[in-house]
Amino acid sequence: MARVFNFSAGPAALPEEVLKEAAEEMLDYRGTGMSVMEMSHRSPAFQQIIDEAEADLRELLQIPENYRVLFLQGGASQQFAMIPMNLMKNRVADYIVTGQWAKKAYTEAQKYGKANKIATSEDKTFSYIPDCSDLPISPDADYVYICENNTIYGTKFKELPNTKGKLLVSDVSSCFLSEPMDISRYGIVYGGVQKNIGPAGMVIAIVREDLITEDVLPGTPTMLTYKTHADAGSMYNTPNCYCIYMCGKVFKWLKAMGGLEVMKARNEKKAKILYDFLDESRMFKGTVVPKDRSLMNVPFVTGDKELDARFVKEAKAAGLENLKGHRTVGGMRASIYNAMPIEGVEALVAFMKKFEEENI
Ligand SMILES: Cc1ncc(COP(=O)(O)O)c(C=O)c1O
Repeated sequence: MARVFNFSAGPAALPEEVLKEAAEEMLDYRGTGMSVMEMSHRSPAFQQIIDEAEADLRELLQIPENYRVLFLQGGASQQFAMIPMNLMKNRVADYIVTGQWAKKAYTEAQKYGKANKIATSEDKTFSYIPDCSDLPISPDADYVYICENNTIYGTKFKELPNTKGKLLVSDVSSCFLSEPMDISRYGIVYGGVQKNIGPAGMVIAIVREDLITEDVLPGTPTMLTYKTHADAGSMYNTPNCYCIYMCGKVFKWLKAMGGLEVMKARNEKKAKILYDFLDESRMFKGTVVPKDRSLMNVPFVTGDKELDARFVKEAKAAGLENLKGHRTVGGMRASIYNAMPIEGVEALVAFMKKFEEENI
């Protein structure tokens, strides 16, 4: 059966080479006589898998030594609670609300202290990133929170906010490893892996060492304390072993591709093909302010709901899957993560051109 071009926002396409390699190792992982799915997380073979995964991630992102890498469960959404539970010493935090995911994190933080919405782009359906150069940062804020790439709305912070010396916490779920980043500018960087890295069900949190303490909010569960997982090398309990294994393979794939500078150039090239067409099309329009456009998630509309629905249906029939936009934006969304080949974006644009000619 032929594989389709999968534009899903997540769980999303994985590199075909990685899937093939995993398939080859499915019944017998490197002479162990068993699948990684069947393997004890305490076995030497698995210890090597997790150690290599961490080492490769550290190399790809140039993670400084004073940051810990944690492979955690509960998805990105669990971090919405874990972050305030572990960081809200003064019970104050500032949130920049640029979409549904940031809003969920902001709402969750209100359970633990005073969460201030210091900027938002909700007035225009989150279609832009607000100016964050001089925000009213609270003097006693424990951290400033952003969602760096907004999966649903297709916006990305091209510059980090001026936090006026406060700790920055960032959700990078939908731009993780799509380009290099300077980890030292953050207190915590975290992301669900099911978009750009691996199968669903895990979040990677990169946490500055001095933030990992026993001094958490009273009542914080053991499992939601960063220190529990840092002290146990992400194996306090049984981790998501197979997901760690797959992420490790994707890290090796990224290294073989040439690393994150190369991925950035490739992602820019892919996004440009689509955005250039959207800018010249008479039928399709991008929904985001050009300067804030994401390289990963590209929402677009025709302005006619019936035409949008027909486009999604006909695209699917042509092997271009999961193009339906989020219900709050409508229209279409193409997620073009690392694993989407250039040919996938070219096929999408060719299909859009044809659809436009036939229907205008
Ligand atoms: C930016 C962002 N943050 C958080 C989440 C939630 O992730 P999870 O389903 O792993 O909790 C998503 C999921 O789509 C997302 O796009």
